[in-house]
Amino acid sequence: MAFPERFLDELIARSDIVDVVGGYVALTKRSGSNLFGLCPFHSEKTPSFSVSPDKQIYHCFGCGKGGGVINFIMEIENLSYPDAVRFLARRANLDVPEDDDASGGRGRRSRMLELNRDAARFFYENLSKPEGRAAVEYINRRGITAAMVRRFGLGAAPDAWNSLTDAMTRKGYTAYELVDAGLAKKNKTGGIYDTFRNRLMFPVIDIRGSVIGFSGRILGDGEPKYLNSPDTLVFSKSRNLFALNLAKRTKQGMLILAEGNIDVVSLHQAGFDCAVASLGTSLTPEQARLMARYTENVVISYDADEAGVKAAKRAIGILESTGINVKVLHVTGAKDPDEFLQKNGPDAFRVLLNQSENSIDYQILAIKSKYDLENDEQRVQFLKEATQMLSGLPNAVEREVYGGRVAAMAGVTPEAVASEVNRAFKRRLAEEKKKRERYEIRPSVTVQPRERSIRYEDVYSAAAEEGVIRLLLADPALLPDDARLCAEDFSSPFLGKVFGLIKSRASAGRQTAIPSLSGELEPEEISRLTEISQKPVSMGNAEQAMSDYIEKIRMQRLKKTAPDDLAAAAELIRRKKGYGG
Ligand code: UTP
Ligand code: MN
Repeated sequence: MAFPERFLDELIARSDIVDVVGGYVALTKRSGSNLFGLCPFHSEKTPSFSVSPDKQIYHCFGCGKGGGVINFIMEIENLSYPDAVRFLARRANLDVPEDDDASGGRGRRSRMLELNRDAARFFYENLSKPEGRAAVEYINRRGITAAMVRRFGLGAAPDAWNSLTDAMTRKGYTAYELVDAGLAKKNKTGGIYDTFRNRLMFPVIDIRGSVIGFSGRILGDGEPKYLNSPDTLVFSKSRNLFALNLAKRTKQGMLILAEGNIDVVSLHQAGFDCAVASLGTSLTPEQARLMARYTENVVISYDADEAGVKAAKRAIGILESTGINVKVLHVTGAKDPDEFLQKNGPDAFRVLLNQSENSIDYQILAIKSKYDLENDEQRVQFLKEATQMLSGLPNAVEREVYGGRVAAMAGVTPEAVASEVNRAFKRRLAEEKKKRERYEIRPSVTVQPRERSIRYEDVYSAAAEEGVIRLLLADPALLPDDARLCAEDFSSPFLGKVFGLIKSRASAGRQTAIPSLSGELEPEEISRLTEISQKPVSMGNAEQAMSDYIEKIRMQRLKKTAPDDLAAAAELIRRKKGYGG
């Protein structure tokens, strides 16, 4: 499957390895310029899976898997090379050239993004026209400033059936495109009408700055309060977060997760530029992983009502499973963060933020609030539920400390709680072990590092051959000309092949970095190559190192082909070296 080179380069450039891998692996440690996390391809307890933002590659020091962003997707999503390319293209909002015809015309994806952008502009411009007056009044009533209107690109959908559709049709978009993007709906007679009418419009913008969908709030009371774009070719509610495009740049060292769009706008207005919201769904694992790419700390600040408390409990588990530290902020005397800020101001919210409970305390209190601890039967129920929750804590000290707290609440001895918690903890471990074993026997993730390394390392000049490749990956300008070294000089067929590949690509002026080689080498070969590139290389005396490697390789080859004539061999090498300058 040959994709155009320019397309692939763009795809790789737009698919930052840290972003992509971060969607699956919590990269919680840093060592030098590399990030580390638990390897998704084999089971381990300490992180040996590394990602290099500079080289745009990943490599596991445990199981040996490695490569660029396309290989990562092939491996983790279990996709073929072309399907992994399509997967990443979708993610990066790029059109796959060969797919255009099949998907109904040229550049369906980029057309849809253009349409969304034009629609957002249309909604925004309405705010300074008569048809946007009602929305402006609503904005003022909610105390949203002009600066926030601009920052979020808020807008007005007029109270009419065809205002957006007419404006976009004039710009050359077809009815089909408007319906496809979720901005219009078909009526019974085959015509179309605006999806969003008489609403305050919130564009949903992804982390790359593309307008991917909309959320429209009714102006005042009525149902449904919010109307969201349906999932489309470019929009997936469960994989995006409202305002993450802004919050990803925060300097606050955390993200605040709120429920409502209005809460998010209010929080940003009050200086909490780290606020995001899930898009009318309860938090999904994809959204949690998305957050984990940008922060280790999330403060959940949901509505104060029962639904909000329930949703927060669910969100805690989802966020913690990505390695995020979770805290929960409880607004008091107001139904949500927006109302709290309107009543009490930013400083009061900052106080709440500083006091926000860690998630364990929060969960204990949430359980406690369900039971009357004066009543023996309910006290037992409380203890049951609380010990079950505590047994899920991986840290023994935490289990003990919080076990003590629960015991005190229920008026029983800490030992009684501890023994219950430990029993539940062991049961959990056994279950997890069973799950892991099931995972390990899946053939696609079985790893055999030994076999692989023997195959390539039984050759004498391997170190020098690897050295050449390593230097070339670090600096393609070091490529020796044919007279000095050619693919046939290599004793390892694999390294010879890689050398030939790098050489032919360089002569065509093409990329030779690992991420760009996924289409031409097998995954095992890419892993091997990545491993080679991981060893340290000193660029200070790279030219000299290259010459030394070449000499070793050629000497070795001559030893094989003309073992009786070493003097001639040495002479030949001297001449070749002169050639290279
Ligand atoms: P809220 O009702 O808390 O919304 O719903 P809000 O943004 O705080 O609005 P105000 O303060 O009442 O004006 C939380 C979120 O749930 C989604 C929206 O994303 C909303 O922001 N939602 C809510 C819907 O998608 N549809 C609905 O009908 C209601
Ligand atoms: Mn609300």
